[in-house]
Amino acid sequence: MYLIENYARLPVRFVRGEGVYLYDDEGKRYLDFLSGIAVCSLGHAHPKLTEAICKQARELIHVSNLFENPWQEELARELVGEFWTRKARVFFCNSGAEANETAIKLARRHFRSRGEDRYRLITFRKGFHGRTYGSLSATAQEKFHEGFEPMLEGFDYAEFNDISSVKKLLREDTAGVMLEVIQGEGGVNEAEEGFLKEVQSLCREEGLLLIVDEVQTGIGRTGRFYGYQHYGIEPDIITLAKGLGGGVPIGVVVAREEVANSLTPGTHGSTFGGNALACRSALVVVEEVRKLLVRIEEMGYFLRKKLEELNIGKVKGKGLMLGVETGRDCRGLVLEALKEGLVINCTAGSVLRFLPPLIVEREHIEEATDILKRVVRKL
Ligand SMILES: Cc1ncc(COP(=O)(O)O)c(C=O)c1O
Repeated sequence: MYLIENYARLPVRFVRGEGVYLYDDEGKRYLDFLSGIAVCSLGHAHPKLTEAICKQARELIHVSNLFENPWQEELARELVGEFWTRKARVFFCNSGAEANETAIKLARRHFRSRGEDRYRLITFRKGFHGRTYGSLSATAQEKFHEGFEPMLEGFDYAEFNDISSVKKLLREDTAGVMLEVIQGEGGVNEAEEGFLKEVQSLCREEGLLLIVDEVQTGIGRTGRFYGYQHYGIEPDIITLAKGLGGGVPIGVVVAREEVANSLTPGTHGSTFGGNALACRSALVVVEEVRKLLVRIEEMGYFLRKKLEELNIGKVKGKGLMLGVETGRDCRGLVLEALKEGLVINCTAGSVLRFLPPLIVEREHIEEATDILKRVVRKL
């Protein structure tokens, strides 16, 4: 009654979670194959994460970025350690949209600080980068813009996996290219390796920044620490959020040092960004996800195989970020699965999406696909 009705909420109230399971207010158990949309990477109530959060909350939650922050330093070292070059720097904020907003600002400022008037970014149809004006303007899907126009100036939209459409949009004032290696909200659409390599070459030839939005694909989701690592590319900037905090809000920009250096004291900031609680949580997630990477790939193959056996559409994605193109509205299927105790999601209208916690095991995958089989038969 008191909430703005901007969400079409499903009729269930989850009150507790444990591992890959959620429980509603009547004690019914659900298998969670959505993880709060790729957020609860270690599942629910993970003992180490819970312990770290409680310990940190007892000691210190927040101090502000006016002061030194050893947790940020420690987490930044870990994140840069996984990046393709150690010559990189990190900025902390609170969400994916904020991280992308920062990346957009950083791209503009990088060129301005060199006296170059380049500010435009090329982004891609079916991409999704967030709901703030910068990130929304970068999101080349008109349905999200509707009623909120005018969008921020300076974004040109190319076709995904089509290098000629990127080249056509190049201008003197183009600053960079921004993309997801697997478009999550847009329907779990994978970039082709050849396309990404061509984008990389184009960026190098033209002196453009390559920005990879790893908000959904990052931190182990696809079976590599960062999703771009599947493709042998070297982005100048990546953005992270979602799974990094295991449920505690955090957003991150990792940028090549030369680019990062254009944000000098006072030019950008965030009150909550990278507070002690968020960083401690993320440190646990990073440590655990590193141990899970091989398993994520194995479980991803297993889930893919089980989904293919269902024969309900083409399976797409990598690792534990999978979608099935059903070719029809799949919201009914999601609702029916929920009734049967399986939490999944429908994205881009017709794509059933699977984002289980990264701790998922074979028996959970079997349980989930058995439920789906029943639901599909029924419908
Ligand atoms: C690739 C990508 N970028 C950015 C965002 C926005 O993140 P947030 O909702 O944390 O602002 C999302 C959210 O779905 C996303 O999938």
